[in-house]
Amino acid sequence: MGHRALIFDSGMGGLSVTEHIRAHMPGLSLTYVADDMFRPYGTKSAAALRARLPGLLATLEIATRPDIIVLACNTASVTALEDIRAAVHAPVVGVVPAVKPAALTSRTRTLAVLGTPGTVKRKYVDDLIENFAGDCRVLLQGSTALVALAEDKMSGRGVDMDILRREVAPLFEGRFGADIDTVVLACTHFPLLIDELKQISRQTVNWIDSGEAIARRVTSLLSDMPENRRMEPPDCALLIGPDAEPARRKVFAQYGFENVVGLYPSKKI
Ligand code: DGL
Repeated sequence: MGHRALIFDSGMGGLSVTEHIRAHMPGLSLTYVADDMFRPYGTKSAAALRARLPGLLATLEIATRPDIIVLACNTASVTALEDIRAAVHAPVVGVVPAVKPAALTSRTRTLAVLGTPGTVKRKYVDDLIENFAGDCRVLLQGSTALVALAEDKMSGRGVDMDILRREVAPLFEGRFGADIDTVVLACTHFPLLIDELKQISRQTVNWIDSGEAIARRVTSLLSDMPENRRMEPPDCALLIGPDAEPARRKVFAQYGFENVVGLYPSKKI
C-alpha cells in the first residue's frame, strides 16, 4: 500500500534524482527505466525525441501503473515535456535546469549551464534564462562525453579525467570563465561526476542541480493523492537494452534496485 513512482532517464543519470526522492520518501515504491538503446538523448533531434518519448512513456505507464512519473532527464524535459504529459494519465514532473536557484545565489552574476548539446540549445532554456537570470551573464556549454563518462563510472569502468578536463575547460578558460561562481548541472548524469568535477576545477564554484527540488515537488504532489491499496511489487530497474553487467547491477542495488531486468538480453550496444 502506498504510492509508486516511475523514474525515467536515458541511462543511469536519473539515479542522481532517485537518491533525493528516496531520502524524502523512503517508503515510496519505485520503478526505474533506462532507455539505454536510444542514449545519448543529447545528440538526438527534437523531432526524434518527440517521436519516441510520448508513446514510450504511455506504454511504460500501462505496464508499471505509477501514481507519478518523474522525467529524470533534462534533455527529454526541455524537449518533450508537454507531448509526454498529453500522452499519459499520471502527473509528470520534469527535471529542468536549475537556472532560477543559480541566479538567486550567484554573487558574480556569471553562471554556467552545463548540459547536453540538446538541452543547451533548446528554447526552453533560453526562456528560463530570460525569465529568471535576465541580469546575469550565462555561459552555455554542451557535452555528450560527460554522459558517457558518468555511465562509465556507474558501470565500474572508471572516469577518464583527461576527457573530463577537456570537456569542462572551455567554460573556465573562456573570456568570462574566471567570473563564474555557479554552475548549473543541467543533465542528471552530471551530479554523478560531482567529485571528479570538483577535483579538476581550478576555482571554487557552487554546483547546482535539480534533484532536491524535484524530490520536494514529488513529495508534495503525492501527499495530495490517495494511497493505492495494491500490494506493490519490489522496486525494479528496467533497461531498454541488454542486461546489466555485474558492476552496473551493483550500482543499481546501491540505489535500492536489487531487481534489474534488461528487456533485450542478447542485444549489444
Ligand atoms: N540524463 C539526461 C539529461 O538529463 C540525458 C543524457 C543523454 O542521454 O544525453 O539530459
